[in-house]
Amino acid sequence: MAIERTFSILKPDVTRRNLTGAVNALIEKAGLRIVAQKRVLMTKAQAETFYDVHKARPFFGELVDSMIAGPVVVQVLEGDDAIKKYREVLGATDPAKADAGTIRKEFALSVGENSAHGSDAVETAAIEIAQWFSGNEIVG
Ligand code: RTP
Ligand code: MG
Repeated sequence: MAIERTFSILKPDVTRRNLTGAVNALIEKAGLRIVAQKRVLMTKAQAETFYDVHKARPFFGELVDSMIAGPVVVQVLEGDDAIKKYREVLGATDPAKADAGTIRKEFALSVGENSAHGSDAVETAAIEIAQWFSGNEIVG
């Protein structure tokens, strides 16, 4: 399996409830390494750019508002098959459908406040990482 990097966001519902460390513990337990991390308050424009792929969806406005409701923690995660592995660690988008032990089953409040984001493909991971980190901020 190839060593990959994926992009992660711990969403405002996580920072609000002081769960950053608890979520990071699940990430590290899964064998993923946090090779870059910073806490930021996204601007509306940054959130709209980030979720541009969803701009035609009915929930777009709600999604952008939820991402700027408080600080987020943006991260780069590295490991074997990291993109797929992190999606498994996240669990289903709807926490009611997520498997036990996943981030969303353990911590998410709803589909809208579902605790974390993970890239869905190699191409999107590269674009998302480049939006938030410059090369020398990522140290493997
Ligand atoms: P993410 O991008 O955040 O990792 O989540 P995902 O791939 O599992 O889900 P995606 O389809 O990309 O949706 C992005 C985020 O939009 C919110 N959402 N709301 N109200 C709704 O029906 C609805 N559907 C999706 C979720 O917060 C989801 O994580
Ligand atoms: Mg997605």
